[in-house]
Amino acid sequence: MGKILNIGVIGCGTIANSAHIPNYKRLQEEGKVKIKYLCDIILERAEEAVKKWGVGVAVKDYKDVINDPEIDAVSVCTPNKMHRFISIDAMRAGKHVLCEKPIARNYQEALDMQKVQHETGMTLNIGVVNRFNGAVNKIREIIAAGDLGEIYQTNVSFRAHRSIPGLGGDFTTKEIAGGGVLIDWGVHYLDIAMYCLGDPKTKTVSGVAYSKLGVDMKNYVYEGMWAEDKKDLNGTYDVDDYVTGFIRTEGSSITFNGAWAQNIGSGSYSYVQFLGTKAGIHLQYGGDFDVYTTKDGKLYSYRPEYTSGDMFYKEISDFVDCIKTGKKLPSHIDTVIVTAKMMQGIYDSSEQNREIVFED
Ligand SMILES: NC(=O)c1ccc[n+]([C@@H]2O[C@H](COP(=O)([O-])OP(=O)(O)OC[C@H]3O[C@@H](n4cnc5c(N)ncnc54)[C@H](O)[C@@H]3O)[C@@H](O)[C@H]2O)c1
Repeated sequence: MGKILNIGVIGCGTIANSAHIPNYKRLQEEGKVKIKYLCDIILERAEEAVKKWGVGVAVKDYKDVINDPEIDAVSVCTPNKMHRFISIDAMRAGKHVLCEKPIARNYQEALDMQKVQHETGMTLNIGVVNRFNGAVNKIREIIAAGDLGEIYQTNVSFRAHRSIPGLGGDFTTKEIAGGGVLIDWGVHYLDIAMYCLGDPKTKTVSGVAYSKLGVDMKNYVYEGMWAEDKKDLNGTYDVDDYVTGFIRTEGSSITFNGAWAQNIGSGSYSYVQFLGTKAGIHLQYGGDFDVYTTKDGKLYSYRPEYTSGDMFYKEISDFVDCIKTGKKLPSHIDTVIVTAKMMQGIYDSSEQNREIVFED
């Protein structure tokens, strides 16, 4: 079984309580880790988490976690602005890091983090959790086997009717989040596309990011608002709530449309579609997928079997295992950073009103 790793979770908000703490707790029960600290800059949140989960000690300053020589690894579950600082400090202190998505607010910050990963040799994985999803991995397998033929187009949609998170709070403040729907939701969808396509090299990106429906915060009407507890109508709204664009890769082209809010009504707008010469796939985000092809001169579709499971558990248990084995996971920063570059290109393209060409 090997050494029991000592873990600290930094940031005790939504994702820490819904994914990181419960899954480390499960691993603690399996004898693989010990949760030593739950840390939040708002100490009461850390204390509440300690009480709720019955694990760890509550601390306010993340430096108390990373300066403890007993700590082996941390999860960074703070708003995007802190990802770079905390991950870099942790790696420099000799800790392995699982940092939530997106890597950071922009590509330069992601590069800074990658540089320190290379210097220190500590693990730096990113919370691109779909890389641990059963359906997504089955699609990647089907594509790699050539069952779709040549995939020439990938169509990505991450659109909701009225679903801007925590209006006026961290999520809608560029200085904290780095961007809106593209960086928050798009990161998952573009990552699925890239992972399933075998992480092809990006050649060009062209995009337009709009900040429209949330701007008039006081008159914004919505059907749902996650992170509503962080709403602040006197706060800031300066991020994208709609984004569209086109990416050329060495393989398939990718088109994408994303909306935190759009005037179109509720519907099924969350999917990734792969169009190949032999067959195509429609993946409903977070759900199942179907393969569309022909058989004996007739149209034919089927739903392949795959092993499902809790993707957050797999992400976190694989992180713990890779620390012990030294195996590089598909969520390593070296793989995932391509999406940060892509998203930066999309925002740059929008601002500069032109296509961005990637030279290397
Ligand atoms: N993988 C996913 O599907 C997924 C889902 C939700 C959120 N996320 C990501 O997780 C991160 C956190 O999102 P959330 O929804 O949990 O946010 P949240 O606001 O609910 O929680 C963040 C917590 O971090 C704390 N914090 C802020 N600065 C800190 C610091 N310097 N030291 C310690 N704690 C600090 C805050 O007080 C807060 O409690 C974001 O990067 C987000 O993009 C990922």
